[in-house]
Order: sequence, then structure tokens, then C-alpha cells
Amino acid sequence: MTRPSINIASRRAVNDSAADAQSELLREVLSRYGESPNQRLREVTEAAIRHLHAFAAEIDLQRDEWMAGIRFLTETGAICDDVRQEFILLSDTLGVSTLVEMLTHGGDARSTQNTVLGPFYVPGSPERTFGESMLVDDDPGERVVIRGVVTDLEGRRLPEVRIDAWQNATNGFYACQQPHEQTADNLRGVYHTDEEGRYEIRTVRPTPYPIPDDGPAGRLLKDNGRNWWRPGHTHLWFSSPGCKQLITHVFDATTEFLDSDAVFGVRSGLVRTFERGAGGELHTTFDVVLDRA
Ligand code: BEZ
Ligand code: FE
Repeated sequence: MTRPSINIASRRAVNDSAADAQSELLREVLSRYGESPNQRLREVTEAAIRHLHAFAAEIDLQRDEWMAGIRFLTETGAICDDVRQEFILLSDTLGVSTLVEMLTHGGDARSTQNTVLGPFYVPGSPERTFGESMLVDDDPGERVVIRGVVTDLEGRRLPEVRIDAWQNATNGFYACQQPHEQTADNLRGVYHTDEEGRYEIRTVRPTPYPIPDDGPAGRLLKDNGRNWWRPGHTHLWFSSPGCKQLITHVFDATTEFLDSDAVFGVRSGLVRTFERGAGGELHTTFDVVLDRA
């Protein structure tokens, strides 16, 4: 019988030489990308190669698993079309979209937090007047008002700020997902702040809804025992000359899934309570501070 010490020693030698071969391979791959004339491309490519090699080595990736991964990405591409973008959904559900938004937005800590754009933004929403409802179709949801003041970092009120708003109906779908069931302009509109920097949007109380779960991204969530629902929210996109654009949401403080958002979009500064006003209407205040451009 072989003595265990010899076994361990010989295994270590094999492992060491495997690790040496892997390091040698990585060095060789990196060196062939080292001459790229585009410095940013080189930086990105080298980091991707280093992290991919480390990932494969860390999990001792086997050929059949790699092929399963490639099939998964192939299916992800195959389900994409003009309206369905499964790669973005995958990036959303892995938290990468939120990370990229954090990195891109950066900025002053006094400014309002941003979050994901999501796939249901459709340009060209109708102009709405101050306080107009963006609800066009019948909807059983509670009527609510979202109002606030938009200022810059110095606290100056900003007039004429453009606010693009969109939201799902109480049945859980955005108008763009149900072209035959909903009016195209239902629950979407472009508002502007008045001369005092105030805005007012009438809508319905936002309800939770499932993200598209019939493709590879949904399968990955379910196979990992994860939730594929988003908490109730209204999307708001603020634009004003000289300021950084702000793409954000207002979340209902009482909504389900606030702590398990499928796409990691919840930021603590964006959660609001709806209160009943004197006229019986539910309302909330969402004041916004825009960062410098
Ligand atoms: C949304 O809020 O519209 C959304 C964001 C990311 C993925 C799916 C939906
Ligand atoms: Fe949404």
C-alpha cells in the first residue's frame, strides 16, 4: 500500500504543475492581447480574460458544464428581438445593471438616488399638464398623486424640468406589453415642473409585477429558488439643462417584494409612504435633487 505522505506529495506535484500550466496559459493569452492600439479595449479585454480564467479555475469548470453555459447564452440570444432583450434582463437579475448604474451615475451624495431604466420605457409619451392623470384606461387601482419639488445641489428650484413617467397597470402589465388590451398611452406621460420647480403626477397606486420569466433569465432565477417579481414602483426620468439626467423610481413603502426585488433596483432613498389627504386622495411627496452635469 502506498504511504499517504507519498500520495499527498505526488498529488501536490501534479497540482503545482497544473497550476503552473494554467498560469502559463493565462500569461500567453494576455500577452497576445497586450498590443491592442485601443487602450480602453485592451484594459477591458484583459480584465475579462483574467476574471474568466479565474472563474473557470475556481469552480473546476468541466467541459459539459461549459457547453451547458454556452447553450444557455445561445438561448438567451435566440429569444431576443426588437422588444425582448434577454441579455439586459440577465444583467438586471444578476445585479450588474444596478452596479453599472451606480458606477455611471456616481456623483454627489446629496443628489437623488438613481436606479435601473428597465425594458418598458417607450420614448414619445404624450405631454401631460401639471396634475393631469396619466391613466387613460379603466383600472381598479387606487388613485394616487406623486408631487414634489426639483432643485439643484445648491437648493435652487428648477423650472421647466422634463419628467418622463411610466408605470404598469394594476393587472401587472405596461401598455407596451399589451398593445391589444391597453391604450398605447396608458400610464405614461411627460410632465414639466412649474416656475417654482414643482411637479404633480396623477396615477394609480403601483402594484408588484413579474418580470418576463419565460426565458433563460427566468429559468435561472427559478432554478436558484429566486423570486421573479418587482415591488410596486413608478418610473421617473428627470432632464434639465446643466444637470445630470436622473433615471429613478418611486417605490410604495407598503408594497410586497421591497426586500427581494428581482432586479436589485430598490434604494432606500426612493421608498415613499402614501397618505390620505383632506379630499380623500392618496398622495406622496418625492422631492428631487439633480446633480451637476
Ligand atoms: C422595470 O422596472 O420596468 C424592469 C426593470 C428591469 C427588468 C424588468 C423590468
Ligand atoms: Fe417597472
